[in-house]
Amino acid sequence: MTIFQEINCRPLHSEILAAIHGRCFDNPWLVASFGDLLSSSAVTGFLTVEAGAAEPGPATTSLAPLGFILIQTVGDECEILTLGVLPEFRRAGIASRLLGAVLSKAHEVPVNRIFLEVSENNYAARSFYHRHDFAQTGIRPHYYNMKEGRMDAIMMSRVIGNLRK
Ligand SMILES: CC(C)(COP(=O)(O)OP(=O)(O)OC[C@H]1O[C@@H](n2cnc3c(N)ncnc32)[C@H](O)[C@@H]1OP(=O)(O)O)[C@@H](O)C(=O)NCCC(=O)NCCS
Repeated sequence: MTIFQEINCRPLHSEILAAIHGRCFDNPWLVASFGDLLSSSAVTGFLTVEAGAAEPGPATTSLAPLGFILIQTVGDECEILTLGVLPEFRRAGIASRLLGAVLSKAHEVPVNRIFLEVSENNYAARSFYHRHDFAQTGIRPHYYNMKEGRMDAIMMSRVIGNLRK
């Protein structure tokens, strides 16, 4: 039986995050970039791992990384910096679980809004965010330089609405 679990991203995960990112995006980020991000107190994230076979013994300690999300919190707002799931593990609810972990964390701290930017031609991600109640808030024309050419950035956000007094 496959068991997914989310663990907190730490600087020691930088190589793993860069490897997953490299399989999810055309413009992979450097290992050092993840190290720098995760050294910032404003940046946190979750890594999904597949726990090994459920039988007792050493096999249960093997963890295979499948996806991750990184966020940056400034004031009462949180930005999704990046989110990716390995292609062979998509449509299994892994990104939804990662977003759920972020939303749970947002309820612990005074975060009122979560936002992100996504390329106009990234239909999977746009569908994913729509499914999770994000709404389009604006467009940055020709923002991304991709192999298909210049692409607009679609700005999306979701109000969490738990701002503490
Ligand atoms: C976008 C991404 C993170 C989704 O990850 P995932 O683990 O497959 O997502 P989930 O399984 O949680 O999907 C939840 C819902 O989102 C929507 N969705 C996800 N992928 C979709 C796709 N390719 N096409 C249409 N809708 C999609 C569906 O409504 C899906 O529910 P369903 O499977 O019951 O129909 C993944 O496709 C990915 O890593 N893409 C490359 C990196 C990327 O674009 N990151 C986002 C940049 S902002």
